[in-house]
Amino acid sequence: MNLDAIPADILWGVATAAYQIEGAVDEDGRGSSIWDTFSHTAGRTRAGDNGDIADDHYHRWQQDVGIMRELGLGAYRFSIAWPRIQPSGSGRIEPRGVAFYDRLVDALLTAGVAPVATLYHWDLPQPLEDAGGWPVRDTAARFADYADAVGTALGDRVDTWITLNEPWCSAFLGYASGVHAPGRTSPSDALAAAHHLNLAHGAALAALRSVAPQARLSVALNLHVVRPEGSGDDDAARQVDAVGNRVFIGPMLGSGYPADLLADTSAFTDWSFVQDGDEAAIAAVESGGIDVLGVNYYTPVVVRQRDGRSEPERVRADGHGQSENSPFVGCTDVEFVAQPGPHTEMGWAVDPTGLTELLLRIHRDHPGLPVMITENGAAFDDEITNGLVHDQARIDYLHDHIEAMAEAVTAGADVRGYFVWSLMDNFEWAHGYSKRFGIVHVDYASQERTWKDSARWYRDLVARWKDRRL
Ligand code: FCB
Repeated sequence: MNLDAIPADILWGVATAAYQIEGAVDEDGRGSSIWDTFSHTAGRTRAGDNGDIADDHYHRWQQDVGIMRELGLGAYRFSIAWPRIQPSGSGRIEPRGVAFYDRLVDALLTAGVAPVATLYHWDLPQPLEDAGGWPVRDTAARFADYADAVGTALGDRVDTWITLNEPWCSAFLGYASGVHAPGRTSPSDALAAAHHLNLAHGAALAALRSVAPQARLSVALNLHVVRPEGSGDDDAARQVDAVGNRVFIGPMLGSGYPADLLADTSAFTDWSFVQDGDEAAIAAVESGGIDVLGVNYYTPVVVRQRDGRSEPERVRADGHGQSENSPFVGCTDVEFVAQPGPHTEMGWAVDPTGLTELLLRIHRDHPGLPVMITENGAAFDDEITNGLVHDQARIDYLHDHIEAMAEAVTAGADVRGYFVWSLMDNFEWAHGYSKRFGIVHVDYASQERTWKDSARWYRDLVARWKDRRL
């Protein structure tokens, strides 16, 4: 496959998220978030790991921007910590929090790296969770205020805004399976959370469009590539697609909530939290909706219809943690099938064909909608010896997925960006520091950053595209 199919002006980038890298949780007036509470609750994360220090990026951001400059990146996708901007989740704006991102954005621009800012990568201010969290409608209105404040402060310089990162995880891992903050296990709350995340997205689009009219607007969804195991498993795949994908992509792209989702989940809710006008507000038609769709891709899922012989299941489908409570609300007769290797350290099957399939599905179902791959990458058990990390498996993973992206482009997909998850090793949520996704190694004791082989490989790839543009 010829990678030259990939457009000359594609944005090559890397991605991170605030709680996973920043540390400095008590500095400059930052409030606490649901991830502070969750990670400090016994038994919630591996070995009690938390983001108190993480990569200490809050103090080392200049060095980290320097690494990105040396990588020659076109873009950096980072997230803004809501509790730094609004410590109590509403009202007063903390100027020191805004100033941190203000400096970061300016430094990125000076380094020639386009800022791509995610407004919400899972760190809901704890006071908003105390008031009910995402299952409560008011949280969406609070998010719109926050979007307005951040957009006003940074909107003249941010290239692309991403409203939410993986709202599926926020709603269903946070409120149904409970493996992510806030760790609740209520299917009906998870569905209400999904709706209010959708509303928050739509309201933020409207706010951003008015304060940052020249920026591109987006959202990053972890759309599931769902494959039926056999010919009798189509309905299982349909159910997972409904609560895994169409619950967000339906209303966000203007077709509303799908009827089959409402039917599948009727045991948990009558969806009366959806009010007149909500679906139009989520699509944000008056503000033009999204300009580009962000998709995060790691691995596909294979599903089958559960039969009498099936083992009672501990949910394997979601590699972010195991729970007795399925995050796939309403998929009662569905079983997730283990896939053959190779697998990454997360236990996720390496299968780049899923990325081609995903991009072509979007191209088919939503012709004309540009896409960015806002996350793709792999955790491996890296070893550092004499300052070197030979992570050939990660290079292979990235190469094969970029090739899979090129294949989709050849078949017509309109891909504008590709972001490696992640710039550097970081706090991998419930897995703590045990999973290393970075192309740059972090020694958590000394905070030393060391380029892995994959970082050099990615730098060289990006440089080839620079040459093509000249
Ligand atoms: C995604 C998250 C990101 C990181 C990767 C491995 O689901 O958005 O923060 O944890 O998985």
